[in-house]
Amino acid sequence: MSRIAYVNGQYVPLREAAVHIEDRGYQFADGVYEVFAVLGGKLIGEQGHLDRLGHSLNELHMAWPMGRPAMMVAVKETVRRNHVLNGMVYLQITRGVAPRLHAFPTDAESTLIINAKKLTPPNKETLSEGVEVITIPDIRWQRRDIKSISLLPNVLGNQQAKEAGAYEAWQIDDEGMITEGTLANAWIVTEDGELITRNIGMDILNGITRLTILEAAEAAGIKVTQRAYSKDEALAAREAFLSSSTSHVKAVTRIDGQSIGNGHAGELTLSILDHYMDYIESHGGPRKTDIWK
Ligand code: PDD
Repeated sequence: MSRIAYVNGQYVPLREAAVHIEDRGYQFADGVYEVFAVLGGKLIGEQGHLDRLGHSLNELHMAWPMGRPAMMVAVKETVRRNHVLNGMVYLQITRGVAPRLHAFPTDAESTLIINAKKLTPPNKETLSEGVEVITIPDIRWQRRDIKSISLLPNVLGNQQAKEAGAYEAWQIDDEGMITEGTLANAWIVTEDGELITRNIGMDILNGITRLTILEAAEAAGIKVTQRAYSKDEALAAREAFLSSSTSHVKAVTRIDGQSIGNGHAGELTLSILDHYMDYIESHGGPRKTDIWK
């Protein structure tokens, strides 16, 4: 069965889906995106993704291509046409097609594309298997709160991780503090048992999975501290994990070749994974989604 993509109001076979070579996304990475998880046929964190998309558009002075309800109809129709029960939806909005001049065009219409893909549903065994991460300097721009399609540092960092036989690269800012991964947020449990993830601001992307975990942890009475933590704290951590819409809650058992804890998924990580799964089952994602930086 051939996959179907949505391109500016049309549903087209994926292999024919295309945009103009003068699309500003193609020439300037002048656009934003969202990745939604689909689990059991349902979109996870719909409101959160829409609110974060609104933040990204707003910060880049871009208009919504259409109203939110109409856009969600297109998202759900793309999921339906691709028979995605478990997987992901990729949505991208660019400033549109215009002759290549840096400043905003005055009359371009934004480009909206939506694509949906099946993925194996998350299961506790694979998520708790444990992956390795490396650390790299964070060379990204200063507005990481915006989900921009300009991802070159993330691409290079993730490639470096792959070449090192690792799953992900955790990025380190100029103060020696971990910001986040190239495609996921980063969490540790310190030697003293403190569960930490970086506080939001312009240094990280506030993940929808991150928000879901924070709410699920709170509901379960698990304390989470949102603060910067150093690479040394991470290397000495008792547990570590990463979070994203495609990786969910994934145990990290090695950082820069060093075993974390006993080298297996930690107790708190496994409990967070359970609470996260239960929370999306009962609430469909985070409920509080109004702060993005
Ligand atoms: N990445 N940080 C970065 C840099 C990310 O790219 C992502 C998501 C996250 C986690 O956000 P969320 O929980 O909303 O997925 C954090 C997506 C999945 C991607 O680029 O494919």
